[in-house]
Amino acid sequence: MRLKVRALVLSAAVFTMAISAATGQSTSPKVAERQQDMKAMAGAAKIIDAMFKDTSPYDSRAFKTAAETIRVHSGHRLSALFEAPVLAEASKASASIEADRPTFDKLAAELGVYASALAVAADRNPAVLAPEMRMKSGDVTMGGPLAKRKAAAPDPVKMPAEHAFHMMLQICTSCHAKFRVKGE
Ligand code: HEC
Repeated sequence: MRLKVRALVLSAAVFTMAISAATGQSTSPKVAERQQDMKAMAGAAKIIDAMFKDTSPYDSRAFKTAAETIRVHSGHRLSALFEAPVLAEASKASASIEADRPTFDKLAAELGVYASALAVAADRNPAVLAPEMRMKSGDVTMGGPLAKRKAAAPDPVKMPAEHAFHMMLQICTSCHAKFRVKGE
């Protein structure tokens, strides 16, 4: 039985190799890692989103773990996975990353700032998703991180956590719009 399973696994591996050889697609470890990191962040964002939408019960520890997952994958770690050469097979990373490295790095860093603010909010609210964590109707999320700021940048730790969360998602979206190629 065990042998049979091993044979199956082996033939699956050979099959995958044959496919990638046929299509000429191969994913380098760096590309695989950055795509895996992105997926981890997407999973973490979903966990937080469900708590704000009340489709999952609030759990400050799970909330914090999710925020930390995004934080550890942001900043320098994120930037480093897109160091030159950026273009690679099976990757949607755009050549514009190399052309505008400062903006890419800034978005990666800002992502970490918002994720940290969410972790702080979880620490401050161990028991319930407090009303202060909620976005007020006056909170605007228009503009996004790339918009020109009139005054000093808002401090994510001082805004309601839900607002910080939406601002953070805008950072994901901004970076994808600018630095990820669309479609197949
Ligand atoms: C600084 C830029 C940047 C930020 C910030 C960023 N991403 Fe990405 N993301 C990319 C790039 C570039 C790719 C394409 C990577 C590739 O294919 O090599 C990508 C790919 C992805 C993918 C597809 C991964 C796959 O399996 O191919 C997901 C999902 C994703 N990002 C989610 C997120 C989420 C959620 C956030 C925010 C919490 C986020 N990203 C923040 C640049 C960014």
